[in-house]
Amino acid sequence: MSLTRTFFLALSRSERLQQMALGFGPARSLARRFTAGDTLEEAIAAVQELNRQGLLATLDHLGESVTSETEARDATTAILDLLDAIEAGGIQPGISVKLTQLGLEVDAALAAENLQRIVARASDAWRFVRIDMENAEYVQQTLDLFEALWAQYRNVGVVIQSYLRRSAGDVARLVHLGASVRLVKGAYDESPDVAFANSAEIDASFNQLMEQLFSDEAQANGVFPAIATHDANLIDRTKAYADRRSVARDSFEFQMLLGVRSRLQQQLVADGYRVRAYVPYGEQWYPYLMRRLAERPATAYLLLRNLIRS
Ligand code: FDA
Repeated sequence: MSLTRTFFLALSRSERLQQMALGFGPARSLARRFTAGDTLEEAIAAVQELNRQGLLATLDHLGESVTSETEARDATTAILDLLDAIEAGGIQPGISVKLTQLGLEVDAALAAENLQRIVARASDAWRFVRIDMENAEYVQQTLDLFEALWAQYRNVGVVIQSYLRRSAGDVARLVHLGASVRLVKGAYDESPDVAFANSAEIDASFNQLMEQLFSDEAQANGVFPAIATHDANLIDRTKAYADRRSVARDSFEFQMLLGVRSRLQQQLVADGYRVRAYVPYGEQWYPYLMRRLAERPATAYLLLRNLIRS
């Protein structure tokens, strides 16, 4: 893992820097490049614009790692309000949620209860809920909670990170269940005991997991793969593999982050693929921005230049 990446991932966990960054204009402007804005209204408007361009969306009410039951319940209420606003706005996005936003680090039972409320409300309105994957220490709990919900609901899906050494086994289980799986490289700082550190290994794992998600068994069980990357090589590999196996273009999708490689997103839509943009909004943008900077140091240098000039 590069030093810059490690540096920004460490910053993403700093409470003090978060407080400073929230009041720092250039950081806020940069956050605007990757988020729809602070308000629900701005998020709805962003989804309407994406839909106009032929893109699907998943909305993320920013927030994570809450430390009290009150914060977890407030975040859940905000997400329930989001579901209501989606209905009122007549738009079709799914939503993405993080278990640490729903209280996983406070009490696992509280997070499970909050997630259940969200999935139940979304199910009533035929909305899809994706449970984002966070640090490696939460993977098993996340998969267990997903499986418990899967016994009752079909509008819920999970995320697999190709940098984790365990992921082939997890995908085998999800393929058996016929789940909807978003495949990503992984965005956190993990120890080499649990995660591959070099990009060749992470990419090789990504390709292997992608193939598992398109296997005969996966197709027979109704697995819906969401290939979430901006990496043109991995996207080309996926397109070629899906073609070779005659997988219809509407039975899987590509996913990318709002504000990242927008032209590639539009090209895929023009080529007849389903593409979904991940649209974060809200005031808790700091850790999300730090992870984006960790992925792309060039953006970080832009921030530093503004910092020096201000
Ligand atoms: P990589 O980082 O190698 O980037 C490939 C190319 O894309 C770069 O060369 C650059 O051109 C461009 N690019 C990538 N990131 C950029 C940026 N920030 N700014 C500008 N250009 C950029 N992770 C996780 O651990 N849990 C999760 O639940 C999710 N969820 C999720 C949803 C969606 C829809 C996406 C797209 C990604 C995630 N991720 C995630 C993040 C994921 O793990 C990973 O960190 C990022 O997608 C970056 O990895 P890439 O696969 O894009 O490759």
